[in-house]
Amino acid sequence: MSLPRFSVVLATAAAAPVLLGAAPWFSSGPPAGYSSGPNDFSNCTDCHVGTVNSGSGSLSLANAPDGWLPGATYALSLTLDDPAATRWGFELSTQHPDGAQAGTLVVTDPVETQLLSFQGVQYLEHTAQGTAPGTTGGHTWSFEWTAPAAGAGKAVLYVSGNAANGNSNTLGDQIYTMAVPMPEGGGTLPEVAVAAIPETVFPRRGATWNVRVWLRNVSAATQTPFVVSRIRLPNGSVFPSSGWLFGPTQVTLSAGELQPLDVAHVVPPSAPLVSATYEILVGGPGNPMDSTTFDFTVVP
Ligand code: HEC
Repeated sequence: MSLPRFSVVLATAAAAPVLLGAAPWFSSGPPAGYSSGPNDFSNCTDCHVGTVNSGSGSLSLANAPDGWLPGATYALSLTLDDPAATRWGFELSTQHPDGAQAGTLVVTDPVETQLLSFQGVQYLEHTAQGTAPGTTGGHTWSFEWTAPAAGAGKAVLYVSGNAANGNSNTLGDQIYTMAVPMPEGGGTLPEVAVAAIPETVFPRRGATWNVRVWLRNVSAATQTPFVVSRIRLPNGSVFPSSGWLFGPTQVTLSAGELQPLDVAHVVPPSAPLVSATYEILVGGPGNPMDSTTFDFTVVP
């Protein structure tokens, strides 16, 4: 019993000075590529221990446009709250659903926020001061977003937040993710816009694969659309060939509401190891509202 434990302690003690000496000071801002968007590796749980969206806190975005207008600038603010946290961090990006940069993020508070870039996509995140160490009751960061040129299509604000416990390490924190779809305005808007955050784009054979669908009612009335999903294979055919992989599931969204919908799939042990496209459609018979896709690859 004591021998393995002793050797673990030894290994930790030997590794710690190396880590401390070489590691950058992450609480002054994580690396780019962790906002949960399609251009990203993942979210903060790549390093911070725990499961995503399992705490009792939340992320929220104020002033997101219902339909963005070309070149217009919007003053946005992101709030992260969690009753247990005493330190706060985030990283966000605005991407099109294919992972390309959407519009331009602008720093308006250089004390609390900073910009990075990775593969042509901007990432806005906290600075050391922006983690507001020792504060409770949530934290809000302000910034601006300038919309792209006409015709660019739906933009999605992807964000990962860390409601931290202030212990200056990666244990005991709560990580949250959110996607806020912002359709292009100026014409007929979809009543409900959709975006998705798959837990991974490399689902494993035999495993449960979770996809979180974000539905946003950008209309001024309650909406009750259906949500369905299917897979588009490389040869152009769809799976299943009739009906849906998920749904139809009806959801009720009050005016302006952003609501997550969790979709879980068990990947059959015999699933082909293909790269394909996951497609989510929202609307009703004769009233398609919006859709989104992401590419994935089944792995053994
Ligand atoms: C590549 C690894 C890595 C990733 C990815 C990462 N972090 Fe961290 N983070 C660390 C390490 C290591 C520490 C502890 C050392 C320190 O405080 O700098 C830390 C500490 C923090 C702290 C202070 C925690 C506390 O309790 O005092 C915050 C806040 C934070 N990170 C936010 C984030 C956010 C937000 C993300 C995702 C957008 C993120 N981190 C992603 C490695 C990472």
